[in-house]
Amino acid sequence: MTLQNLDWTEALAPLKIAKSMPPEIYTSAEIFAAEREAIFLRDWFFLCREDQLANKGDYRSFDTPGGPILLLRGQDDRLRCFANVCRHRGSILLEGSGNTGGRVVCPYHAWSYFSDGRLYGCPDMQDAEGFDRTENGLIPLALDTWNGFVFACFDRKPMPLLDHLGDLPERMASHRLDLMRCTWEFEIDVDCNWKLLLENAMETYHTGIVHRDTVGAQTQRPIPTRGQWLCMQVLSDRSIATMDKSAASFPMIEGLDEDARRGTYFTVIHPTCQFAIAQDSMWWLNVTPVAADRSRLHIGGCFPEGTVALPDFVSRARAYEDRWEKVAREDVGVLEGQQRALGSVLFRPGPLSGRDDMVQAVSRWSVERLLRGRPTL
Ligand code: FES
Ligand SMILES: [Fe+2]
Repeated sequence: MTLQNLDWTEALAPLKIAKSMPPEIYTSAEIFAAEREAIFLRDWFFLCREDQLANKGDYRSFDTPGGPILLLRGQDDRLRCFANVCRHRGSILLEGSGNTGGRVVCPYHAWSYFSDGRLYGCPDMQDAEGFDRTENGLIPLALDTWNGFVFACFDRKPMPLLDHLGDLPERMASHRLDLMRCTWEFEIDVDCNWKLLLENAMETYHTGIVHRDTVGAQTQRPIPTRGQWLCMQVLSDRSIATMDKSAASFPMIEGLDEDARRGTYFTVIHPTCQFAIAQDSMWWLNVTPVAADRSRLHIGGCFPEGTVALPDFVSRARAYEDRWEKVAREDVGVLEGQQRALGSVLFRPGPLSGRDDMVQAVSRWSVERLLRGRPTL
């Protein structure tokens, strides 16, 4: 199965006459392998917030479509990203997150590395001819940050992160995301294709139905973008980051521009991440593709520093955390069913609603990337 064998006429047609994507883009192992080569190993992907590794020696490990990787804060306070792979015989070096205490020590034969990646210790290697410890440091990959958000990329010559983000920094400038702190995170394995999670996260057609008992019906407006991202705004003059309309929300971010005050921006930062940016907070849905029909969903929540400093922050933040987890689980239930149904030999692409504009845009981006390659700037 290759994309070229499929008929794209209806899937890529103007929305009024378009149909949903061929189901193979959600179910085929061959198409998933092509996405890995052309997208997951080429584009920037989001990891976490810088403030989640606040101290020298802090680390976090991640499983990615390119294998396990490691984010480390060095003794020089710099963040670096490496393959989480020992240079001796390939053991995983670190699991989960924590602090290295200064050196990364392989759990297998105790080779050890400085937090800038240089090999430090390698016991009993004196007989190895031609062995040069300076050539056996950890293998780095590209890392960049924007407003405290950390991104990595397997491509050796990635597009600059700011080019990838286009006008997103400008659109979100008044939210002062650089002053936010991540206070909450949650992970869940989901039996569905990565694109289904992002399509779902960009439409409010389903919210009055799937989320009738939580966030309820919503309306959205499209926001034009420049760069490798999409945006729509869910309109509400109160933050929709909590579901209880009577619950006292945290204060609005000071100095929000007029557009930002109108609601919550839902974005897709291609290929695999959503930032949802409300008037009082932001949260992300970060998708790690595992297989055509399996993904790992990482959700994180951030608040402005001033909000985190409030004396009753912890108890008030629970309403937000509860909403983020509940709504995500409601979506996951529907999406896992959709994944099973898309595998039916009897399924045929169906007509789209005017409310599916962003759904079409999400999958069109990955299809066009596979068909045409990465745009040159
Ligand atoms: S695999 Fe790491 S020291 Fe042997
Ligand atoms: Fe939803």
